[in-house]
Amino acid sequence: MSNLVPLILTSLTQVDEGRSIRSVLRFHVQENDLTDSEESLLYYHVFEIYRRLNLIDHYIKTSSSSFSLKKINFRMRALLRFATQLLKIEEKPISEVVELLQPQYRGIADLGLEPILHSIKDLTKDIIYENKHDFASKAALDFFTPTWVIRKFIDQWGEDFTKELLSTFLETIPTYVRVNELKSDVEEVKTGFKQQEISFTEDTDIPNLLRIESTSIPIPRTEEFQRGKIVIQQKASALASLVLDSKPDDLILDMCASPGSKTSHIAALLHNKSMITAVDINPERVKILEERMKLLGVQNIKIVQYDSKKFNQYTDKKFDRILVDPPCSSSGTYSSRPENKWKLNKRDLRWYVDLQTDLLEEASRLITPNGVIVYSTCSLFHDENQHIITSFLEENDNFSLEKPLPIIGKIMNTPFGEVQELFPHLHQTEGFFIAKIRKKK
Ligand SMILES: C[S@@+](CC[C@H](N)C(=O)[O-])C[C@H]1O[C@@H](n2cnc3c(N)ncnc32)[C@H](O)[C@@H]1O
Repeated sequence: MSNLVPLILTSLTQVDEGRSIRSVLRFHVQENDLTDSEESLLYYHVFEIYRRLNLIDHYIKTSSSSFSLKKINFRMRALLRFATQLLKIEEKPISEVVELLQPQYRGIADLGLEPILHSIKDLTKDIIYENKHDFASKAALDFFTPTWVIRKFIDQWGEDFTKELLSTFLETIPTYVRVNELKSDVEEVKTGFKQQEISFTEDTDIPNLLRIESTSIPIPRTEEFQRGKIVIQQKASALASLVLDSKPDDLILDMCASPGSKTSHIAALLHNKSMITAVDINPERVKILEERMKLLGVQNIKIVQYDSKKFNQYTDKKFDRILVDPPCSSSGTYSSRPENKWKLNKRDLRWYVDLQTDLLEEASRLITPNGVIVYSTCSLFHDENQHIITSFLEENDNFSLEKPLPIIGKIMNTPFGEVQELFPHLHQTEGFFIAKIRKKK
């Protein structure tokens, strides 16, 4: 374990600086020759610290009134968070923690680390929950989620539903892979998986989707993944392309395309017999999209780096099907990407809502009469979901809402018709929203 400490601290620092846990850990695993057990210990500590970050930080802040977590540098913060996890979550004795961290904290002796560790160790539950009287502030510590997020959930669904939902944020959502029919077929992938001792079950809702039960090697290291025969794609995300229900020869626009999981799914469903325009604003992500579409064998695709909010300045074409899968708060992904819980604030949420509104408005200018727009997010907030759709339909009476078939989640009613929501505690998927809008003839 002691040789892993620098790697754990570096990873925590990098995530604190804004990078995603998965990309940081993937990099360190590639760069360092770790054993399987070292790799899983690294993942365990970084994920668990970020899953419980508010409680860990609350311990640190409560330990000393003169101490400000915001004023210390990233590295020290990482050290204190790791130490607190070991002391309070893992309940390790203080001598063991000090010995483990000794080589790392020599340089920060000025911080007076040891008394802080003692005072963290001595904190009781009563002290930690002092002044946490209402449901939301208590639940924030019980379920490791920001109080303002919990208040939003309660406004949307009430306390009981919120509690059930929150309880899944510490659980792992199953991994799914979609067999890419442009490069392989289900039988070939199933045979390959059996040979590699990857156990799976076939999903009964979505064709070509396999749920991974256990695996002897990480899926990205398999030949199937590296040759584009499979795509790691969440079940909820694979639903969007089915709801789009494109037909051969449709002109299709994917307004927020990278990294292209849904784009490649749309192409596969139509056996490349469609013309897809895939747009993304971010040049680096466009490069990823280009490489990925090549690997996955997607043809008849035009990839464009452009701002989709004003795409009608780029083209005078109209499209039969448009997918709007915009950036969002990612509040549906808290179990697989716990760092997202702590990144978002209310102002960011407003920014997402404005962008989503503009993108949907632009889609309405680019769609043919009788054409279909599918709007999807991996958010659980109504502001980014049904509120966007109802405001849009209030302003645009030449559009109507259609049932977003197939239904694998929960149908929710709006004043204009039905939309679909998926919840981790009900559907064992990430939180997801999907609506289907048709332009009247
Ligand atoms: C949720 S991700 C899309 C995921 C993708 N649909 C998939 O299934 O793989 C949102 C994407 O929208 C892109 N984006 C953000 N603002 C945009 C804009 N104004 N125009 C076009 N793309 C944009 C981001 O760069 C990001 O790649």
